[in-house]
Amino acid sequence: MELISGLVPARGVWWRPANRQERLWIAIAFVWCLVLFAMMPFWHLKGGQNPTGIRSRVDPAAFAERTLRFAEEYGIGDDHGVPLVAPPPGAEVYLLGQMWRWYPALQLEEGVTYTLHLSALDVNHGFSLYPANLNLQVVPGYDYGLRITPNKAGEYRVVCNEFCGVGHHNMLGRIVVVPAGTKVAAAATAPGEETR
Ligand code: CUA
Repeated sequence: MELISGLVPARGVWWRPANRQERLWIAIAFVWCLVLFAMMPFWHLKGGQNPTGIRSRVDPAAFAERTLRFAEEYGIGDDHGVPLVAPPPGAEVYLLGQMWRWYPALQLEEGVTYTLHLSALDVNHGFSLYPANLNLQVVPGYDYGLRITPNKAGEYRVVCNEFCGVGHHNMLGRIVVVPAGTKVAAAATAPGEETR
């Protein structure tokens, strides 16, 4: 009987050339690695799963400033303390992640294309669109511009999925997609509040 332990190594055969079967399996594993590697760029282009956005550097304060202006310009009401904003078709849309809210709430039209700009004021946040399964990183200092066309009317929530501090679990935003041509706020506009 042969004693095998950490101190007494097994008598191996690793210095002998690999046999035919072993070489075959190494070749299969290697080819499979290449297939998986090629799938990454292929699926990015063909799968339509990974969005290609325009990334550019931005000063967080400047982005916040632009978002405020955007909210003032197209605001139609209030949604739990943040403005509800209905930008016109084709507009540049701004959404700011900050501890611990998404600013502002958006009302978009179904079938209309917008450019959605995402950025953060302080730390990394995660944009997770519920119930649609869409996840994006929201990074301070970077303006992530995405061409989006909402294809289904309804109520969407923006859940922060990147831990960002004690209020992380309360960081919930709102995007309402209304049928094309809808002008007034879909909901959450207090009575008597100005709409246009
Ligand atoms: Cu923002 Cu978690």
